[in-house]
Amino acid sequence: SDQDLSDALRAKLKSYPDFPKPGINFLDVFSLYADLEGSQILNEVFIRKGRSVIGQIDVVVGLDARGFLMGPIIAREANVPFVPVRKSGKLPGLTVGTAYSLEYGEASVEIQKDAIPEKARVLIVDDLLATGGTLNAAATLISKLGLGITVTECFVLMELAFLKGRDKITSKVSCTLSFD
Ligand code: PRP
Ligand code: MG
Repeated sequence: SDQDLSDALRAKLKSYPDFPKPGINFLDVFSLYADLEGSQILNEVFIRKGRSVIGQIDVVVGLDARGFLMGPIIAREANVPFVPVRKSGKLPGLTVGTAYSLEYGEASVEIQKDAIPEKARVLIVDDLLATGGTLNAAATLISKLGLGITVTECFVLMELAFLKGRDKITSKVSCTLSFD
């Protein structure tokens, strides 16, 4: 079941206190990929997520960098294209950007201007929801594209629920592993 998969991941996940700054407990999604069973469970979680949104979304947007590990699997399973949001200066062609602040520092992200079709329903995916700055920036960026594009859902593997980042997000938010 989804609960069993989530429990198995929780047991395998490694965290690093005070990285990259004092007070931050870094949840390392790569520790799951480094574990053969962990990697298989992740794959299953993403496949299930993709199947659950078939017909409800038109594009999956994944966030640089670890959203790129998840997004293409979810998109393929949902039969929709995958589109990246990248840290600024990395994407070719015409782009739209936005700046934001995150748990530790400042950043700006971009998307290709013509990457998402008119009136598309978008699922945004990332590894972690902390303060919500990153997901909120991605949603803001997508709304800047206009064209009747809407963010229908944000999916994260892990959520630091106590930071209440969810409150910054106007769309539905779903997560596999919530931490209190
Ligand atoms: C981490 C994580 C999320 C974001 C969550 O990314 O992968 O994208 O922080 O934090 P927030 O909810 O407070 O915005 P990071 O900015 O460290 O970059 P990376 O994914 O490129 O490693
Ligand atoms: Mg990130």
